[in-house]
Amino acid sequence: MNPAEIDEARAQAQALIAACSEPNALKDLERRYLGKSGVLAGWLAGIPALPPAERPQLGQAVNRLKRELGELIVARSAALEKEAFERDAAAGTFDPTLPPPGVERGHLHPLTQLTREVEDLFVSMGYQVADGPEIETDWNNFEALNIPPDHPARDSQDTFYLDGPGPLVLRTHTSPVQIRALTRLAPPLRVIAPGKVFRHEATDASHEHTFHQLEGLVVDKHVSVAHLIHSMKTLLRGIFRKDVEVRLRPGFFPFVEPGFELDARCPFCTSGCSVCKQTRWIELLPCGLVHPNVLKAGGVDPDEWSGFAFGLGLSRLVMLRYGINDVRLLLGGDLRFLEQF
Ligand code: FA5
Repeated sequence: MNPAEIDEARAQAQALIAACSEPNALKDLERRYLGKSGVLAGWLAGIPALPPAERPQLGQAVNRLKRELGELIVARSAALEKEAFERDAAAGTFDPTLPPPGVERGHLHPLTQLTREVEDLFVSMGYQVADGPEIETDWNNFEALNIPPDHPARDSQDTFYLDGPGPLVLRTHTSPVQIRALTRLAPPLRVIAPGKVFRHEATDASHEHTFHQLEGLVVDKHVSVAHLIHSMKTLLRGIFRKDVEVRLRPGFFPFVEPGFELDARCPFCTSGCSVCKQTRWIELLPCGLVHPNVLKAGGVDPDEWSGFAFGLGLSRLVMLRYGINDVRLLLGGDLRFLEQF
């Protein structure tokens, strides 16, 4: 590269831009001269290899040409746009009185749609909707839920530990909202708490590191497993629009006693299908009667009050509802997926 070459390129580019009559051809010219791998970028990249005395002068000349061509292209592009407008107006093909193209409207995420539906359902049964922070204290997330520091139940809910005024974690479940509700509201109480939770997971089609749960907590006098079953059947009837048979299997969670896994009769088949893995039952949610230690940690007297709690996997319920086969699609942000709902 030398000054004569730069001048030659200037003259050539000016002529080409002036003769250009097509927006796409102008874009090609812009790429050819000013693009990342264009003529000028190549020259600028070669400057460090030039003799030191020549570098400043040539560098400035290339940068000047870059600016000049940029301005010429912008001006030519505006001129082409104006010509096109005048051509359309003269031919009568442009009607300035037409409304502009409609704005494309978005819609709610399937998780939000189902959350709102489930919230409405529980509100109709007298529950209030509570919220809790995604960054929780170790106390609310583990200790107050009867999970002391060395308890093995911590292993299955490994998470991010954060520095803070005290030990903080990205909450691993929505159950800490139980403690928040117990300490803030006086029993009798009925609360649900939907929200995002986080775990250190080896992700696969049914395990995400970030997913949604919905916690439920009822504290009242003489609460029994029968109340729990009734609430869950009402929930399922609301979601699947028909009566759904349920069964309880023993399940261990330190914050309930007794604890269960609640399975629902597969709403999609009568003799086994891929959703229920041919078992006719779908594992839906863990639940149980609130452990007296949890009531105590929340400042509630277990001799006077009792309750039930459940932890619905909202992400998995959305999958069931819409026939989604991979949980990672839910928060993947792919519009091709989201536009289907
Ligand atoms: C819990 O998180 C308990 N807090 C639930 C609970 C609440 C029990 C109240 C008793 C009383 P678990 O780890 O099983 O339990 O998770 C609950 C639900 O979250 C599971 O049934 C499942 O549907 C969903 N889930 C768990 N891990 C994942 C994951 N990695 N990705 C997507 N969903 C998950």
